[in-house]
Amino acid sequence: MPEAGEFERELVAGLSARPRSISPKFFYDTTGSQLFDRICDLPEYYPTRTEFGLLTAHAAEMTALFPPRADLIEFGAGSVTKVRLLLDAWGARGRFIPLDISAEHLHASAAQLRADYPGLDVLPLAADFTRPLALPHGDRRVGFFPGSSIGNLGPVAAVRFLRQAAQCLTGGGLLVGVDLVKDPAVLHRAYNDAAGVTAAFNRNLLQRANRELGADFDVEAFDHYAFYDPLRQRVEMHLVSRRRQTVHVAGQAFEFAQGESLHTENSHKYTVEGFRELAEQAGFVPGPVWMDDEERFSVHWLAAPGLPRRG
Ligand code: AVJ
Repeated sequence: MPEAGEFERELVAGLSARPRSISPKFFYDTTGSQLFDRICDLPEYYPTRTEFGLLTAHAAEMTALFPPRADLIEFGAGSVTKVRLLLDAWGARGRFIPLDISAEHLHASAAQLRADYPGLDVLPLAADFTRPLALPHGDRRVGFFPGSSIGNLGPVAAVRFLRQAAQCLTGGGLLVGVDLVKDPAVLHRAYNDAAGVTAAFNRNLLQRANRELGADFDVEAFDHYAFYDPLRQRVEMHLVSRRRQTVHVAGQAFEFAQGESLHTENSHKYTVEGFRELAEQAGFVPGPVWMDDEERFSVHWLAAPGLPRRG
């Protein structure tokens, strides 16, 4: 959970830097989480639907790889619809630990899961999973990291995250969804939907700053700008100032030139081989990979190193 003050600190630092940027983790206040759920239903946004199809078709094969009596930990749990497919196949008898930075969303989802899976111990944790975690004790853990959220990290940060995960998931593994490199036109449409929901999601960051920090962004004076860079294999999202303007945050004035950008998100895409190499660098042993027929999206099983022997 980003503590009070973190958003302000990081926004001021990001507005002071050149180029200007802010972490995409701040998208997910209550409004932002709702807008993200709407993105997932958009016809242009294929990742959620495709991954859901893969989990539906292959949940039994996936959960067969889980060690017995494991704790299942979901990173960035959001609305926890996907994990239900795994729980149904797995038997839902153990512990499920959903992690998310949006506490409100998380606790509502946890309550619903408890009602639907009476045999399951649900232990929600409002946490920023890119930071060291205080997880309940357990020596067999399986991680579930769907949605290609790992794409928010660049390759270097992704290896750092995976290395930490490999250490925490000893004796188990990680099931991770990864969006694939593909036709730039398909990617462009996914981040520039006709209904403008992605634009609203992007601009909500400024609205959130106005609501929570008393900032005075003229939200309509910033354009949503998203494009795919095939060299870096990533979609970049920006908020671009339509005109010269001054914005105030935390008593400081920030001048935007016409056309100046605040970089709000990177969404990295991988090839299957490229992602398996990252996982290996982080100490995982890459296992089975599931893909849709069009090879738009992938789900990987990464086995974590075994338990260190005692004595
Ligand atoms: C949740 C980070 C995977 O990168 O596709 C969707 C977020 N941003 N549309 C993505 C997002 C714009 C999403 N991730």
